[in-house]
Order: sequence, then structure tokens, then C-alpha cells
Amino acid sequence: MNNWLGLEGRIIIVTGGASGIGLAISNALRDAGAVVVSADISYKTETDTEVPCDITDRASVEHMIEHTVNTFGKIDGLINNAGMTLPRMLVDVQNPHSKYEINDAFFDKMINLNIKGTYLCAQEAARVMVKQNSGVIINISSECGKEGSHSQSIYSGTKSAIESFARSWAKELGGYGIRVLAVAPGPMEATGVWTDAYRDALSYCRHVTMDDVRKSYKSSTLLHREGKLTEVADTVAFLVSDRASYITGTTVNVSGGKSRG
Ligand SMILES: NC(=O)c1ccc[n+]([C@@H]2O[C@H](COP(=O)([O-])OP(=O)(O)OC[C@H]3O[C@@H](n4cnc5c(N)ncnc54)[C@H](O)[C@@H]3O)[C@@H](O)[C@H]2O)c1
Repeated sequence: MNNWLGLEGRIIIVTGGASGIGLAISNALRDAGAVVVSADISYKTETDTEVPCDITDRASVEHMIEHTVNTFGKIDGLINNAGMTLPRMLVDVQNPHSKYEINDAFFDKMINLNIKGTYLCAQEAARVMVKQNSGVIINISSECGKEGSHSQSIYSGTKSAIESFARSWAKELGGYGIRVLAVAPGPMEATGVWTDAYRDALSYCRHVTMDDVRKSYKSSTLLHREGKLTEVADTVAFLVSDRASYITGTTVNVSGGKSRG
């Protein structure tokens, strides 16, 4: 166990903790002695530490927060990780109105999950944290939130938004001993987002294959490789710990130096 972080007994909620980066974060926090409550839409049954939760639904989020407080008595951290992306173009010049263009349903889905879900969880967790006079909220962004990304404009916009939320919430909540941050991963090894639909849309919109994209990681990051999920997880574990007690209101990039989408 990694005792240096001092996370033993800390109660930390991770949204989207059943897969990918969220699962890696949950594992890192547990290794460091924290109690992780994983809130994920994919769970079928509720246990003390796994809660079926749709973060876009207020009642579901309220239940998840109540469950955590009733079971463990406090909330030390919230990792707003659940999110999604799917390549979509603003205009499909070759084939206008094709299924690869952004449409209203796609727009609403992205905004609901990546922005509204982050806001709902932060609001309900912050209600508890202000009473405690302590807590840490970390929004998981993406490096494309800084520079945009071809065929991922709405996704990039949602990530810019939650980085901005982190800066504003840090100003509102700092006086209550609460830190708010964003973490922006860059090109990563495979996670659940790499579905067949993702690969299909990416190759249509960008005229590349997923293999081409992975090869391009060599040139797009200063370290000439994609990131490991544990590299994001270890950064989050540090930032949620008291070792990072003077870091708030900013975004930490975990992107191998990549700064463009
Ligand atoms: N994978 C990457 O390369 C990468 C890069 C930068 C940023 N990110 C960000 O990291 C986060 C995690 O991405 P990932 O790649 O691990 O994705 P993933 O698809 O592997 O995991 C997402 C998890 O969120 C859950 N989820 C989906 N909708 C939900 C909802 N409404 N309520 C609760 N849970 C829900 C899913 O069930 C899943 O377990 C996202 O915010 C993503 O934008 C990922």
C-alpha cells in the first residue's frame, strides 16, 4: 500500500468507475487505502461501494450521494470521470446530413453526459463538502478541450466547459476548504470509448484508421507514445490527496506534452 499519499480511510466517489480511466483511478485510490464508491450506469445491483447511477439524472445522483453519506458518513473526494465521445463532423461535405454529421440528438446527449452530469454530481457533493469544510472535486477533461479536435468539436467544447467550471467552482468553494481541479489526459491506450461505432466514425470523418491514429501518437506527443491509464490514475490520486493541498482552480495535463487536439 502507498501510505505516502495519506488516503487511508478517505471516502472518494468515482463516476464511471466500472471501465477505462475510471476503473484505473478507482484501483489506484484503493491501492492507496481509500474507500472508493464507484457510480456507474452499467451496474445492475447496489453494494456499499458500487452504485448504479445515471449522472444525467438528478434523482439518481441525489440517491448516490445519500447512499455514500449514509454508508460512510462523509465525502472526501469526487472524481467526475464519466463521459463519452464519438466522432461527428459539423458538415459532411461529401454527403450532407449523413449519420456522421452532428445532429440535435447527438448534441443533447454529449452536453447531458459530459456537462450536465458533471454539474449535477459536483453540486450534490458540494452540498455535503461545504458542511464538512473540506473536500476535493476533480473533473476529468481532455487535452482536446484546449485546442479542439477534428470531428470532435462538441466533445472538445464539453471538456473546455468542465475545465472552466473547475476554475469557477474553485473560486466559490475555496473558502470552505474545498479544492476543485481538472485533469486533462492526452492520447491514451485503449478504453471502453474505442467501440466499433467509434472506429467506424473516426475512419469516415478523418479518413484514417484507428491504427493510423495510434501511430500518430508517436509524433503528436513529446514522449512518442500513448499514455497508460495508470499515469492518469496516479496523478488523480496525488491531486485528491493532501499532498496537493495548495493546488486548486487549474487543469493538470497528463498528455505526454501534447497540447493540440
Ligand atoms: N480514453 C481516452 O483516450 C480519454 C482521453 C482523454 C479524456 N478521456 C476522458 O476520460 C473519461 C473516461 O473515459 P474512458 O475512455 O475511460 O471511457 P469508458 O467508456 O471506458 O468509461 C466510461 C464509463 O462511464 C460510464 N457511464 C457512461 N454514461 C454514464 C452515465 N450516464 N452515468 C454514469 N456512468 C456512465 C460507462 O458505463 C463507463 O463505465 C471521460 O470523461 C473521457 O472523456 C478519455
